[in-house]
Amino acid sequence: MLPFIDLAAQQARIKPALDAAIARVLAHGAYVMGPEVRGLEARLAAFCGAARALSCANGTDALALPLMAWEIGAGDAVFCPAFTFAATAEVIPWTGATPVFVDIRPDTYNLDPDHLEAAIAAVVAEGRLRPAAVIAVDLFGQPADYPRLAEICRRHGVKLIADSAQGYGCTLHGRHPIAWADVATTSFFPAKPLGCYGDGGAVLTHDPALWDRMDSLRVHGKAVAGDGAANGHDPKYLNARIGMNSRLDTLQAAILLEKLAIFEDEIALRQEVADRYARGLAGVCLSVPAVIPGGVSTWAQYVIEHRDRDGLAAHLKGAGVPTAVYYPVPMHRQAPYAAFPRGPGGLPVSDAKARRVLALPMHPYLTPMVQDRIIEAVRGFNG
Ligand SMILES: Cc1ncc(COP(=O)(O)O)c(C=O)c1O
Repeated sequence: MLPFIDLAAQQARIKPALDAAIARVLAHGAYVMGPEVRGLEARLAAFCGAARALSCANGTDALALPLMAWEIGAGDAVFCPAFTFAATAEVIPWTGATPVFVDIRPDTYNLDPDHLEAAIAAVVAEGRLRPAAVIAVDLFGQPADYPRLAEICRRHGVKLIADSAQGYGCTLHGRHPIAWADVATTSFFPAKPLGCYGDGGAVLTHDPALWDRMDSLRVHGKAVAGDGAANGHDPKYLNARIGMNSRLDTLQAAILLEKLAIFEDEIALRQEVADRYARGLAGVCLSVPAVIPGGVSTWAQYVIEHRDRDGLAAHLKGAGVPTAVYYPVPMHRQAPYAAFPRGPGGLPVSDAKARRVLALPMHPYLTPMVQDRIIEAVRGFNG
């Protein structure tokens, strides 16, 4: 079986740098909030043109932190797609707010601005919930339609979060999602385009006061600037709000600094892989991925559609080609989420996609020879 994502090839490329970075942390011993954490935050922000970045324990907490910092909670509606990983929706009921599921565009798999408009209008008309925020997802690595989403959010006075767990590094007309969103979040789960060797996450923002509140929340609500005098106490032991423990390990920050150094190059390599798939598979399946005009994807996943998706997956497995289905059951069909509201008309696109999508092996180190083997295997399916 081929690897679905070849993390070993990346590690081999930068092994001496990784070893040296890990050795430096072991030598200085600041395992929590060490200098590499601050260094990484500066580099993450600079990479995307954000004023600040705040690292945290994972990409799920990265979504929860801004919601908590804005004090979103009971009586608030937070709009998000159902065709996404659970974390996008999961953080909303954590705060006491209500997720409202919105459908996706059939070409990009990202939030449909027209359906978002209709969903907000329906919530306003019903009058039970107050529209508070939108979480857009950069699914499979490509940017959502931020110019339109930001305009809708501004008009309704709601916050816009870019869940860029799969898309950190993606751009639209040369700008990163944080150019439009109030915050952009990411995940450093190992399989993500920019992943560490464990769990990790980060939030990007232009708002220093928001950064301070999220810094407080990630360390048990410690007192930060604006929380008044510490009266001589260590602010760590003054709790200005109810927070959590959500820090990125120094070791993971050190590893990420080395991976970030080659990230730009890896995005370009991923684009070459995507182009080769597109050339080899056009016309063979129902669809190959379409990227929004002006968009650059980080290609977290390369997802094709096929009428007999399960038959194709079984055929590929027989040929030694692993595949994955993202996502077989959209969030509005998952039992704990089934009672939450949906935009008018339901989510027919999300439902249809769940039956057809299939992700093929995708990583920057897929050689043309191996890729051609995958393409031939797909072409050889007579489903
Ligand atoms: C779209 C999306 N949002 C959020 C997350 C959550 O990230 P994490 O697993 O680091 O908590 C993930 C990935 O796992 C994701 O794919």
